[in-house]
Amino acid sequence: MVLAKRIILLCALLPVILTACESLRASKPIIPLREYERMIAGRLDANYVGTQNCLSACHYHDRIKQDFDASTMGVQMSKKSGMPLVNCESCHGPGSLAIEGITPEKVEEDAKAGKRTECNYKTFIDINNIPAQAKSLICLKCHTANATFNLHNWNAGSHSVNDVACSDCHRIHAGPDLKVKPRDTLDMCYKCHQEAKAEFSLPSHHAVPEKRIFCTDCHDPHGSLTEKLLRKATLKDTCVQCHSDKEGPFVFEHADNNDDCRNCHSPHGSPNNNLLTVPVPFLCLQCHSGHRTDSKATKESKAAFYTRCTDCHSQIHGSDLPSADGTGRFIQ
Ligand code: HEC
Ligand code: HEC
Ligand code: HEC
Ligand code: HEC
Ligand code: HEC
Ligand code: HEC
Ligand code: HEC
Ligand code: HEC
Ligand code: HEC
Repeated sequence: MVLAKRIILLCALLPVILTACESLRASKPIIPLREYERMIAGRLDANYVGTQNCLSACHYHDRIKQDFDASTMGVQMSKKSGMPLVNCESCHGPGSLAIEGITPEKVEEDAKAGKRTECNYKTFIDINNIPAQAKSLICLKCHTANATFNLHNWNAGSHSVNDVACSDCHRIHAGPDLKVKPRDTLDMCYKCHQEAKAEFSLPSHHAVPEKRIFCTDCHDPHGSLTEKLLRKATLKDTCVQCHSDKEGPFVFEHADNNDDCRNCHSPHGSPNNNLLTVPVPFLCLQCHSGHRTDSKATKESKAAFYTRCTDCHSQIHGSDLPSADGTGRFIQ
């Protein structure tokens, strides 16, 4: 019966699944290598001219240049030649075609006529419109996993897989300081993760909106070996970085519940105290039956059921001390 139902369901869903596959394939065409090269290197018929030549005729990009020169990337100089290791053309592609015919005299003439001289920027890499993977390759040609250690898991990470590019998070021209400070991450992440924003506004929540704990304490946006981009090898390891008293091992373990804190807690936020997925006693009653205030009580004597389980079972994560009868009841 069940099998038959499943087969019917599958048949009903088949067209949907097939269309989904079709659209996946359509949205990620395999691009010939040459095309990719063009996307991340720019016009192959242009030449590199150097930042000086690019910018000397006009001052329109002075702020960008100043900020960039002061940034960690911009101050990197080759020991041998004294030339910058990263310059405008490293990311935007070679610039000779863009500045063809632009001289200080032409800029001055245009200015007199009330015109602003534009370089032919269409010959640069179309950075805002190329596929995310190509956008990231512009950075990865220098930021290899060996050079930038935290990028080891980038390719398999859900950001890369879901077409999020480096420059969606790192705004290269936002200012001279390219280092991401933890307190900047909140706006960075909320831009795309509205559902997380909603969870962190629930009554019980980790102090992320208060900027005492950060998304990046638990997640590595560059990819990780664990599900959900978690920073540590397991979910429990991620939590006990800060909650080491819950790590154990305890003499009396709460079965293997503690291996996955999600059995009882929502990591971001919850309407219930202590980030609980379900309030006590209902949380406990998912797995236990309750007991009465008096163990000798019978149905007839109608002793009340206990409801505030953790008033007595206060060491709910595990305990090293036995209860009165010598077993662990998480009472002390
Ligand atoms: C590390 C890579 C990188 C380098 C180096 C770089 N840029 Fe950019 N630039 C970008 C990216 C990515 C964008 C598009 C997204 C954005 O605006 O942040 C961009 C956008 C721009 C824009 C258009 C948007 C705006 O802010 O006006 C200009 C103009 C620009 N860059 C000029 C320059 C100049 C001039 C230099 C050299 C001083 C330079 N860039 C160096 C990556 C880079
Ligand atoms: C031509 C080589 C090159 C390219 C292309 C490049 N970078 Fe860099 N980047 C460097 C070097 C060199 C440094 C300084 C050393 C370091 O921190 O690894 C650096 C540093 C950084 C830093 C650290 C800043 C800090 O203060 O610690 C960030 C963030 C960064 N790059 C992002 C990017 C992004 C995003 C892109 C693509 C849009 C990109 N880079 C493209 C070479 C490059
Ligand atoms: C989803 C947002 C996001 C994406 C996408 C992303 N980064 Fe980052 N990056 C961060 C954050 C946040 C930090 C701050 C350090 C940390 O906690 O990992 C950071 C730190 C860095 C640093 C070290 C400098 C620092 O501030 O400590 C470099 C270099 C860097 N990223 C390069 C890259 C490159 C190259 C890519 C693309 C391959 C990339 N990032 C993609 C968010 C992102
Ligand atoms: C430009 C948009 C964008 C930004 C900015 C962004 N993300 Fe994401 N993130 C995505 C997309 C798209 C996915 C994949 C689809 C999904 O799960 O929502 C994703 C997935 C995730 C996941 C789930 C991983 C999984 O395996 O299910 C985590 C965790 C995450 N992001 C954390 C962060 C953090 C932390 C930041 C800030 C440093 C951040 N994101 C910034 C777009 C973004
Ligand atoms: C205290 C640790 C912690 C902090 C801080 C944290 N997260 Fe998470 N996040 C988790 C855990 C654990 C999961 C996995 C939850 C699950 O599987 O149910 C998760 C899941 C996610 C997911 C995937 C949700 C899904 O349903 O697949 C996204 C997206 C995400 N977090 C984004 C963020 C953003 C954005 C921030 C900061 C505003 C943030 N997280 C802060 C621990 C944290
Ligand atoms: C970066 C440190 C850090 C990490 C990682 C962390 N926590 Fe916390 N957690 C705290 C702090 C600090 C508090 C104290 C309350 C506050 O200031 O928000 C707290 C409070 C709590 C609370 C009580 C909340 C309340 O309403 O009083 C629970 C439950 C909790 N954390 C569970 C977890 C779980 C589950 C994980 C792993 C997904 C985790 N924590 C990861 C720092 C952390
Ligand atoms: C079987 C359910 C259960 C599991 C599994 C569980 N917790 Fe709890 N946790 C609770 C309950 C119930 C409370 C509230 C205790 C109270 O009311 O005294 C709590 C409270 C907390 C608190 C806040 C109060 C305190 O004692 O500091 C933190 C922090 C916490 N848990 C962290 C964790 C971490 C980390 C894990 C995973 C290693 C975890 N919990 C697994 C049920 C659980
Ligand atoms: C996800 C299921 C689950 C939840 C939720 C849960 N427990 Fe447990 N609990 C167990 C398992 C499994 C055992 C081990 C049972 C055994 O060894 O017979 C256990 C053991 C116990 C024991 C010791 C029993 C004994 O026979 O020694 C007590 C007391 C207990 N739990 C109380 C609680 C309380 C109070 C809560 C709510 C805060 C709770 N549990 C939530 C699954 C759960
Ligand atoms: C007034 C204190 C108190 C409260 C409240 C309480 N318990 Fe207990 N519970 C105990 C004591 C004491 C024992 C040990 C009884 C024994 O050894 O005979 C115990 C034993 C247990 C056991 C072991 C099972 C057994 O019968 O041997 C479980 C499971 C349990 N409690 C779950 C719960 C749950 C679930 C709640 C909330 C609905 C709860 N308790 C509320 C004191 C309490």
